[in-house]
Amino acid sequence: MTRTLLLTGGCGFIGSNFVRFVLANRPDWRIINLDVLSYSGNPENLADLEGDPRYRFVKGDICDMDTVAPLMEEADGVVHMAAESHVDRSIMDSKPFVVSNVLGTQTLLDAARRAKGGKGAGRFVLVSTDEVYGSLPLERPDLRFTEETPLQPNSPYAASKTGADLLARAAFHTFGMDVVTTRCSNNFGPYQFPEKVIPLFVTNLMENQQVPLYGDGKNVRDWIHVDDHCEGVLTVLEKGRAGEVYNIGGDNERSNLELTHAILDIMGKGKDMIRPVQDRLGHDRRYAIDASKMANELGWRPSRSAWPDALESTVRWYVDNRSWWQRVKSGAYREYYAKQYGAKG
Ligand code: TYD
Repeated sequence: MTRTLLLTGGCGFIGSNFVRFVLANRPDWRIINLDVLSYSGNPENLADLEGDPRYRFVKGDICDMDTVAPLMEEADGVVHMAAESHVDRSIMDSKPFVVSNVLGTQTLLDAARRAKGGKGAGRFVLVSTDEVYGSLPLERPDLRFTEETPLQPNSPYAASKTGADLLARAAFHTFGMDVVTTRCSNNFGPYQFPEKVIPLFVTNLMENQQVPLYGDGKNVRDWIHVDDHCEGVLTVLEKGRAGEVYNIGGDNERSNLELTHAILDIMGKGKDMIRPVQDRLGHDRRYAIDASKMANELGWRPSRSAWPDALESTVRWYVDNRSWWQRVKSGAYREYYAKQYGAKG
């Protein structure tokens, strides 16, 4: 069946990987990519798709109903990935997070519901985050987030994503919309904006600069390869149950210290390249995902996230694509980086 999927945020890291994944795996689908091209959206990420009849890029804002509504008329499925996503930025200035993540999501939900004379734009998948659950204590390695874990977001970023998550829930309960929500752990892979820890550290090391490790480095994240995440979202779009939430994780917990040492090893650099810096305010200690609902109900499991191979190939991508990240790093990013860490970078 030919499908026209409306994707938001397709010029970002996960979005651009999702466009490629869907076009490669669903040969009869078309994608409309709505992206406002904020600081982290980079049309270069999909430059090779220009002219592909199955792909259309629309520059526009998810908060603007006049932009969104006509696109919903064309869609028979929506995957909403557009978001402000960087915790440190949300600590410095939270308003863009509330606007994009909360207001943007509600605008899309309203437009999707009203489309086609009230028949709607088909299934709506909200790509949420494991950060809505808050933090787990390091002392309890037995605990993991399930879909029933109470929502206790700790950062302005996580709180704004929780707002979106709950609005999606409300759209299902109030209007009977076909909404499904995914909550995923930390992604890694190609095209990630180099403010996130893995591309930041790899690209710093390539420029012979130290890597800023927050606090004691014992914070734990569950790392999933972006292609595993994309496959999970596609699985939920096709097979998930309306009104449900599905956790997606890599089953790959690592402390930041462990991650940093692995990157240093791959790149042949010494521990002297670590620069301990002040901890992030309110820094969540540990995220860990129980993705057994995805496995048991939908038959999905991560298959591309295991280290060292997945980390090595990701590091190699940044090594091989220096001109990509140099252009990114020298742009809007520089200003932000200077504010965070002084004039270096
Ligand atoms: P990040 O990539 O910002 O993802 P998130 O905060 O959403 O999990 O950070 C991943 C981990 O790396 C997090 O525990 C914070 C830490 N970190 C550093 O130690 N130094 C850095 O410069 C950055 C950006 C992150």
